[in-house]
Amino acid sequence: MSDAAKFSLSGKDVEFPVMSGSVGPDVVDIRKLYAQTDAFTYDPGFTSTASCQSKLTYIDGDEGVLLHRGYPIGELAEQSSFMEVAYLLLNGELPGSAELGTFSRTITRHTMVHEQLATFFRGFRRDAHPMAIMCGVVGALSAFYHDSTDIRDPEQRIIASHRLIAKMPTLAAMAYKYSVGQPFLYPDNSLSYTGNFLRMTFGVPAEPYEVNPAVEKAMDRIFILHADHEQNASTSTVRLAGSSGANPFACIAAGIACLWGPAHGGANEAALNMLREIGTPERIPEFIARAKDKNDPFRLMGFGHRVYKNYDPRATVMQKTVREVFDALKVNDPLFETALRLEELALNDDYFVEKKLFPNVDFYSGVILSAIGFPTSMFTVLFAIARTVGWVAQWNEMITDPDQKIGRPRQLYTGPTQRTYLPVEQR
Ligand code: CMC
Repeated sequence: MSDAAKFSLSGKDVEFPVMSGSVGPDVVDIRKLYAQTDAFTYDPGFTSTASCQSKLTYIDGDEGVLLHRGYPIGELAEQSSFMEVAYLLLNGELPGSAELGTFSRTITRHTMVHEQLATFFRGFRRDAHPMAIMCGVVGALSAFYHDSTDIRDPEQRIIASHRLIAKMPTLAAMAYKYSVGQPFLYPDNSLSYTGNFLRMTFGVPAEPYEVNPAVEKAMDRIFILHADHEQNASTSTVRLAGSSGANPFACIAAGIACLWGPAHGGANEAALNMLREIGTPERIPEFIARAKDKNDPFRLMGFGHRVYKNYDPRATVMQKTVREVFDALKVNDPLFETALRLEELALNDDYFVEKKLFPNVDFYSGVILSAIGFPTSMFTVLFAIARTVGWVAQWNEMITDPDQKIGRPRQLYTGPTQRTYLPVEQR
């Protein structure tokens, strides 16, 4: 590609530099567009806009490729652990065994939460959605850890990042325990990150809890699959919130709020609810017809993606993991057969083929999480635990980026032009 993009507006010719990354499409640097032409660009949903430079994650949506710091997601999911991936995303390189040990111990040491937070939980209704609780309690961490909210101090940034990664499973398990009326369990730091989370969620103080190694491995892999996904809606929200200088706990709370939506992290919950509504494979054609009907707002949940126009590589791993969990737990949820059949029918349907709609990470995750024992309302919370790694890594990258500015998009104003106020009795 040329090193400049030429553009003409109202008879004026302007040129903009073209920037190349290490791989992927070039980008046109339009930072001087407004100064030179008095015009803005219009790009709702940022479908053609690169909002930052990043070294963390690369996606080739046409080829179905996802790399973290250059490593393919399939290799990471098969061979590494969530702690390794967290280290990789935060530090840029895979850890050696000593580094991994130190990092895991550091995270482990931060798993407890301030005792006063338990009181904070008790302010919620028992039937509160756990994502509602997470929005509140993660934001509230800002009020508990004042010694790690100075974003100009690199050491405080790292401590806040470690605290967030470490405390998310504890808070998530507390949100679950609160909803089922069971006592909170303190972390047991002799367990792995994921084993500890499973125990805090499913254990009770009255009995010892045995972590099932197959479930622990599957859960760890699910965390890896959700760890980061470049500039998705919640990550962009974290970056935007952080661009004003807000503290990291507040920024991650903003990310959680964005993740909650059914078009983003809430899709795993919506996908399982949809499979339950479909029930048996005979009813699939009816739902495919609804998804294709322009007058029906229904969409196949867990299908389609803004970036992937091919099979989501995370869905491939997820589908395999379903069988592993079923074998380990000796269960066989008929909804998995429904999901497989739905995928097969949709992938052979012209509508889905033409629009390049494939299963995404959320299509199979609900079946696994349900088999493990999580209620659907917890699915997005699990996504939030894992994505916290990506959020804090992206937030740290943003803070240290010399090009970083407060995020402040412009608009195309289509409202009334200036008019004169009339007192109410004259209207
Ligand atoms: N079922 C039926 N039609 C669909 C679907 C679907 N799941 N997804 C997209 N389409 C159609 C859509 O109606 C549109 O048709 P047309 O061009 O005729 O108007 C076309 O495909 C393009 O869709 P879009 O909404 O313009 O694409 P987008 O990039 O803005 O949306 C998406 C991406 C993920 C929001 C969308 O595919 C969707 O709503 N999927 C279901 C929800 C879901 O599974 N979300 C999880 C995403 S992966 C996890 C994550 O990153 O959080």
